Formats: sequence, structure tokens, C-alpha cells
Amino acid sequence: MPASPPSPDAQPPRPRPAVVPSPARVVVLLSGAGSTLAALLAAQAAPGFPARVVAVVSDTPAAGGLEVARGAGVPTVVVAPGDFADRAVWDAALAQAVGVVDPAWVVCAGFMRILGPAFLARHGGRVLNTHPALLPSFPGAHAVRDALAHGVRVTGCTVHLVDEGVDTGPILAQAAVQVHDGDDEAALHKRIKVVERDLLVDVVARAVRGGIVLEHGRARLVDPG
Ligand code: GRF
Repeated sequence: MPASPPSPDAQPPRPRPAVVPSPARVVVLLSGAGSTLAALLAAQAAPGFPARVVAVVSDTPAAGGLEVARGAGVPTVVVAPGDFADRAVWDAALAQAVGVVDPAWVVCAGFMRILGPAFLARHGGRVLNTHPALLPSFPGAHAVRDALAHGVRVTGCTVHLVDEGVDTGPILAQAAVQVHDGDDEAALHKRIKVVERDLLVDVVARAVRGGIVLEHGRARLVDPG
């Protein structure tokens, strides 16, 4: 029985609009100038970047990164330890201030405080940090200075998941940077930051798109396929 011809007023099937997932919400924690934040803001301007910085939180009103955020129209909050009775109360207040924004991911981009139990209980497993050395070498607040003092010929940067330690969380990605004769801390850190920004942007995009798997204490980014 041949199929009856379509009626003259039949409409061709309308193409379904591509389902573009809304970008994942990211909160950035920072204490410094904010060049790393600026790299994330530049990246998210590109079509298809899967994340969007929805708030910037600092431990100090003096952070230059707050100005970078404001310039981009990103809401900012300062949660300063000195405004709270002790470190535990500050940690809980920080966890709450970030939680209100409901981020999928938290990125520490030059954040000079240790995140405590309350913060990690609420946001743990979704907190990334970028560090200007090849961990586990040279953890802590003076990584570039320490690497220079040690006389290494190669250093670099690391992006890792944050755990309760100081720069001890599972490593996700690293990039090497040559140390030049005559480098001082500022010159070397400047070169590290150039590499570090790209590494962090890449890890954020991959973490959002494919997630992270923890196996035997190691973390790996999952390729969304
Ligand atoms: C980055 O190198 C980061 O790894 C370190 O501090 C620097 C932050 O730079 N913890 P900026 O404030 O983003 O310019």
C-alpha cells in the first residue's frame, strides 16, 4: 500500500536548536593582583567556553583582583579573617559566602589563605588551586623564591585539587618553565604566570566538561569524549 503523499500544507520538520548547556558557575578566590582571574575572564569571553566566573571573593579589600572583577562587572565579596573571632569562624563564613553563589567549581587564583574543614566540607572535591612551582617541590607562599634559592634549572606551575593540607591535594596538570641565569623572583614568576594562566584555563574547561576522577589518591581529568 503506497504511502499517501504529504498534504500540501505539511510543514518540514523544524531543526531542533542545539542544546547549549549554560556555563558552569565558578567562584574565584584571590588575594593578589588578579592576572590569573583576568585570564579566566578573557577565556570565558570566547564562544563555547564552558565556565563563567560569577563572583570573586578575597580575604583582603586591598586585592587588586577585586578591581579586575569590578571592571568586568563580576560581583565581589571580602571575607577578611580579621573581621572574625577566629580562623574557624572565618572559614565557616567563607564557606557560606561562597555557598550562597552556588558555584559548580571554586578556583583559588592566588589566594593566600588555607581553606579549613568547614569550607572543604561544603565545597571539597570542587576546589582547584594553581601554584607557581612543580609540586610537591616548593609548596607554600614563597614557591618562586624557594625554587630560585635552591638553584633548580627547571620549575613551573601546578593545578591541583585542594585538600586540607598546604598545596598537597591531588595534582591535575603541570607545566615546566626554564630558569634563566640572572632570573630574580619577579622575572621568573612573571614567566611562570604566562604558562600558568593557560594551564589553569585549560584545566577549568576540562574539569567542567568531563569532570575529575580520583583513583588511589590520584586525580585525573576525564575526557568528555
Ligand atoms: C599565581 O602565580 C599563583 O600561582 C600564586 O600567586 C599568583 C597570583 O597572581 N599563588 P595574580 O594575583 O593572579 O596576578
